[in-house]
Amino acid sequence: MSVHFIGAGPGAADLLTLRGRDLIASCPVCLYAGSLVPREVLAHCPPGARIVNTAPLDLDAIMAEITSAHGAGHDVARLHSGDLSLWSAMGEQLRRLRSLGIPYTVTPGVPSFAAAAAALGAELTLPGLAQSVVLTRTPGRASAMPEHERLASFAATRATLALHLSIQNLGRVVAEVTPHYGPDCPVAIVWRASWPDQRIIRATLASVEATLPEGIARTALILIGPALAGEGFDESCLYAADYDRRYRPQSAESPWSEWSEHDD
Ligand SMILES: C[S@@+](CC[C@H](N)C(=O)[O-])C[C@H]1O[C@@H](n2cnc3c(N)ncnc32)[C@H](O)[C@@H]1O
Repeated sequence: MSVHFIGAGPGAADLLTLRGRDLIASCPVCLYAGSLVPREVLAHCPPGARIVNTAPLDLDAIMAEITSAHGAGHDVARLHSGDLSLWSAMGEQLRRLRSLGIPYTVTPGVPSFAAAAAALGAELTLPGLAQSVVLTRTPGRASAMPEHERLASFAATRATLALHLSIQNLGRVVAEVTPHYGPDCPVAIVWRASWPDQRIIRATLASVEATLPEGIARTALILIGPALAGEGFDESCLYAADYDRRYRPQSAESPWSEWSEHDD
């Protein structure tokens, strides 16, 4: 018996991995985390599976479901939205499973920031503009930020910011980052990325608060940074015609010309 933690992706049912789909289909018990896991993903459960929405449960009740399945020798598919490495509450469940000696596996999913970038048709790391992406959030009712993780400190790098769980704090976000990026810096808000009712709002730091339509709440990402303009960046060396590289040595003297095609 194993508990299979599976990233269910950002919303579109076909953004589930094949491994995730097959694991769901093999498990007689499925625990899923609330409204962000699409119903079509649950359709992969086998007939007669026990399917439980864990949104109204506390951690003890979730563990009771898992230990009951463990006692019966039933594998469990444990679904969380997006990828499991980000704000999934997987860590506290794994800690309990380790102390109980219950085996588990982890299957990654498409994270919402990647789905949002895809919706925008944006590369978040454009040469000369941004080479880092900061995946962060602002404090919420249930989660304080560690003292050393300050939004202004992240903003000082001028990397691309991907703010989760923060749309309700948009005014505060704008106030904290504008001194670093400037008022004309592009902002994109992607609401329910990859869902059929997905919405995209493009603005600048100066205009975004006034531009935000009614109803954009909760499941939204705020992306901030010069890379979102999609212009004013350098081309990468990788595909430059004169760039000497392993797969395209430019001369017999190139250090790469010795490499055989079997070299990695
Ligand atoms: C509890 S976190 C889960 C993050 C998830 N594990 C991931 O990999 O993206 C929920 C937050 O992720 C963001 N989010 C999740 N799904 C989203 C989507 N489809 N579109 C936009 N934002 C999304 C929102 O900021 C939301 O408040």
